[in-house]
Amino acid sequence: MKLNNMVAIVTGGASGLGEATVTRIIEGGGVASILDIAGDKGKALVEKLGPDKALYIETDVTDEEQVLEALNKTEEKFGNIHVVINCAGIGLAKKVLGNKGPHDLSTFTKVIHVNLIGAFNVLRLAVERMSANLPNEEGERGVIINTASVAAFEGQIGQAAYSASKGGIVGMTLPIARELAKYGIRNVSIAPGLIDTPLFASLPAEAREALGAMVPFPSRLGYPAEFAMLATSIIENPMINGDTIRLDGAIRMQPK
Ligand SMILES: NC(=O)c1ccc[n+]([C@@H]2O[C@H](COP(=O)([O-])OP(=O)(O)OC[C@H]3O[C@@H](n4cnc5c(N)ncnc54)[C@H](O)[C@@H]3O)[C@@H](O)[C@H]2O)c1
Repeated sequence: MKLNNMVAIVTGGASGLGEATVTRIIEGGGVASILDIAGDKGKALVEKLGPDKALYIETDVTDEEQVLEALNKTEEKFGNIHVVINCAGIGLAKKVLGNKGPHDLSTFTKVIHVNLIGAFNVLRLAVERMSANLPNEEGERGVIINTASVAAFEGQIGQAAYSASKGGIVGMTLPIARELAKYGIRNVSIAPGLIDTPLFASLPAEAREALGAMVPFPSRLGYPAEFAMLATSIIENPMINGDTIRLDGAIRMQPK
């Protein structure tokens, strides 16, 4: 699917990986709706990118009504929805049995709710709209990209909830791709390693360098633009489907 004139929805698009992806899509001639709970940050990004190319819609991805409203607003402004990129997510470190007792269920549930159920909520509602698209010459009606993590495969101590949420993304990638094949809609996931987003910005420079040094090659934190580059390659290459692609400089996380 070509980026030019393509309409994308990017959740978590006001920051980090989502922001870089929105920027690259617009540079490639597409337009994007940003679904996030970032308030003024999202509005400022739209001002920067151009209100004719980007739309910010304050949306909690876990809320069915808010997501439906965001899909309606996107179709009203841009006429269509071709691509969904799920980047909204939260991280949380907590031990199963910590100093203060067992992992509370509320935070475990919250991480699964935002990272896994939120992504599913957006894609299930968007697919209904995408399935009505006119197919392109390849028979494609749409592309879905979800964000997993290397923590889905080698989660560290304290990542039970986060790894479970990202493992869920990996697990649903193939069955959704198989089901949506009949509509010409692909479903692909990306599992990033350590990418330099606001997630890491709060760490001191030495800590960020130490994390980067753990990456075999290139021995640094990844750039958000490298995630965006992979996301747009997935959109453009019709043969990529039903799998999770690692983007990690060959890092394999240790237990802690
Ligand atoms: N940065 C990394 O190294 C890394 C590595 C592996 C996976 N990931 C994943 O990539 C995704 C993006 O991470 P990032 O590093 O860009 O983080 P980030 O914090 O910069 O961006 C995440 C965005 O998601 C939004 N968000 C959170 N909860 C939401 C909700 N309920 N509804 C709508 N929006 C919500 C936040 O407001 C924020 O703008 C996350 O799913 C994260 O788990 C990141």
